[in-house]
Amino acid sequence: MSLIMFASPVVVITPTVRSLTFSSSRRSNYTVMSAVRSEPTSTCSVLTKFQKDCATPIPFLRNVADAISDDMRAGLAVEGGGDLDMILTFVDALPSGNEEGLFYALDLGGTNFRVRSVQLGGKEERVVANESEQFSIPHELMVGTSEELFGFIASKLADFVAKEKPGRFRLEQGRKREIGFTFSFPVKQTSIDSGTLIKWTKGFNVSGMEGKNVVACLNKAMEAHRLDMRVSALVNDGVGTLAGARYWDEDVMVGVILGTGTNACYVEQKNAIPKLQSKFSSGTTIINTEWGGFSKILPRTIFDQEMDEESLNPGEHCHQFLYCFFTVWVWIKLYEKMISGMYLGEIVRRVLLQMCETSDLFGQFVPVKLSTPFALRTEDLCKMQEDNTDDLVTVGSFLHNFLEVEANLKARRRVVEVCDTVVQRGGRLAGAGIVAILEKIEKDTDRMASGQRTVVAMDGALYEKYPQYRRYMQDALVELLGHHLSSHVAIKHTKDVSGLGAALLAATNSIY
Ligand code: BGC
Repeated sequence: MSLIMFASPVVVITPTVRSLTFSSSRRSNYTVMSAVRSEPTSTCSVLTKFQKDCATPIPFLRNVADAISDDMRAGLAVEGGGDLDMILTFVDALPSGNEEGLFYALDLGGTNFRVRSVQLGGKEERVVANESEQFSIPHELMVGTSEELFGFIASKLADFVAKEKPGRFRLEQGRKREIGFTFSFPVKQTSIDSGTLIKWTKGFNVSGMEGKNVVACLNKAMEAHRLDMRVSALVNDGVGTLAGARYWDEDVMVGVILGTGTNACYVEQKNAIPKLQSKFSSGTTIINTEWGGFSKILPRTIFDQEMDEESLNPGEHCHQFLYCFFTVWVWIKLYEKMISGMYLGEIVRRVLLQMCETSDLFGQFVPVKLSTPFALRTEDLCKMQEDNTDDLVTVGSFLHNFLEVEANLKARRRVVEVCDTVVQRGGRLAGAGIVAILEKIEKDTDRMASGQRTVVAMDGALYEKYPQYRRYMQDALVELLGHHLSSHVAIKHTKDVSGLGAALLAATNSIY
């Protein structure tokens, strides 16, 4: 368990220099070796303007946290009431530890999918046996048809079950194998075991699936593979993380994913959800916020804007506006594109390209690779930011290998500053989102004020593998919540528990 570190607050330096405006037109054919420029803009002023646009001082973060809270409330009041979908998950009971039997988890949410079998032994024995296998999804299946994608998944699932060792895993006689299906995309849940896809995210664009029941798609593929299994729970990865973490720790109230995409799910009081429309609602339920859709008040730089416009799923969240008596649907998903792992490297690439094209980052040279969308990965930024050498040797050799450029020390420093600007904004905005959720829970329960420990279960490669991002996130959290309340908050890295969580929810919702 990693308790929040009380690092000293981050000082955000926002130097004021003359502002620059970049053309918002979409660039298609980038210059590879640039011509000699008349009056190049200095890289420093491009960087300064970018730093200024990305600054996240505390008053601004406070506004972001408040705006997210407002949208949470609006989304709980009516369907589509705010930027956050606030999806009802139908998960009213979290795992208790008493679950027993053999259950499966299927996890689809990124470039890999994972199959897992879990033999549960109740309070004393807990997880008796556990086996999993991971498969990478060929890119063509991510943008193909639902038959192809689910056919591939069902065939791997069938292979996995066929290899099961009977001694360790025991299915009770007369029972079907039950699955918890973690589907990490926005789904309008219609019951615990069904839901329709709202919109693909994270580079997926499988045709004809939006508006379709994802469990029906899986069932059809399983039937075709003569697999006698049933989906007993359809869950988001945030819900799976919350459920899996709660199995080991009763104080877990929030599940956050900071990986390729991002999301947060939390325990809500039913009587605080007007859209439930039941007068007798009592107890708690899990809400899937789909917070990636938050967009209000986030200042978009030209780089964010161009990245969104050119992405596979431009503006991925749907919002309804009334415009001259017509309903207009606008898709926006800004928060995810500012804080999650899929996009940080891409924003940096765009800024560096601008610095090369309009000024002199690498002299007259504009590296070809900088024109390739998504060529720069978030893990590359991390590698460069972790370079502690005086002359930034790692940065230099990365730039040499990646861009085929001999960057002098000044250029290396600038590159690191761009990475830091993007990562600082992402980490601090993520911190503000977590604060919004904690404050919502606090308002209804007073848990932290009364000294009760409140745990945020975290998963995702961005959180796990990017220490500087983590620090920025945690600093913002402490700065916003204050030392007293944050001393009752624990951020716990719960790696890969969403599969266990899904299997547990299949057990909780078993038909037997
Ligand atoms: C999806 C969420 C998911 C998150 C993390 C987002 O793109 O909309 O449903 O939980 O990624 O995987």
